[in-house]
Amino acid sequence: MRIDILRGDLTTRGVDAIVNAANSSLLGGGGVDGAIHRAAGRELLEACRELRRTQLQDGLPVGSAVATPAFKLPSRWVIHTVGPNRHAGQTDPALLASCFRESLSVAAGLGARSVAFPAISAGIYGWDARQVAEVAFDAVRWFSSSSSGRGADNSSLELVEFVLFSEDTTAVFRTVFESSPGFEA
Ligand code: APR
Repeated sequence: MRIDILRGDLTTRGVDAIVNAANSSLLGGGGVDGAIHRAAGRELLEACRELRRTQLQDGLPVGSAVATPAFKLPSRWVIHTVGPNRHAGQTDPALLASCFRESLSVAAGLGARSVAFPAISAGIYGWDARQVAEVAFDAVRWFSSSSSGRGADNSSLELVEFVLFSEDTTAVFRTVFESSPGFEA
């Protein structure tokens, strides 16, 4: 599994699935959530409203992930996940790890071969980008060594992108990646 770290706009990535840093309502917001909804078009909100009417009547829990089509976006799917909100006292890294792990598992379950993540929780939800990067790379390591991450026969993921919106965050992710055990830079 290859990991790419790049500065860019997640909504432009032509991967199979992009991951949205949503909130539990799934009804849109600011940040990358707002950008994804704007680029995907109204049908994305309709698909999220349908999820709220059916399988997610109480909203999407922190650390969980669910997929919808991506509509007008270049990717095939959007995987929505809800990161922990430091401002609401959600400081347990296991919640953030769950966002990455669940999103990777949902992507593999869809048969996606490529997925792109933003820096979940590193914006409005107030987490430090360095800690987000550490949690993210640990989750990718866990996934690639687990059964759900093994071999192309179960159409596992081949490419994981981290798409960062600022030069600073990109530099932080690159620095953490280069010092992460188990990944060749
Ligand atoms: N592409 C890639 N990354 C982006 C983009 C974009 N188009 N827009 C913003 N980002 C970056 C931010 O700079 C930050 O580093 O995504 C990271 C996550 O920031 P947020 O989008 O604020 O997400 P988060 O911190 O998880 O807060 C989630 O914000 O947008 C609302 O509805 C969302 O309530 C939820 C909360």
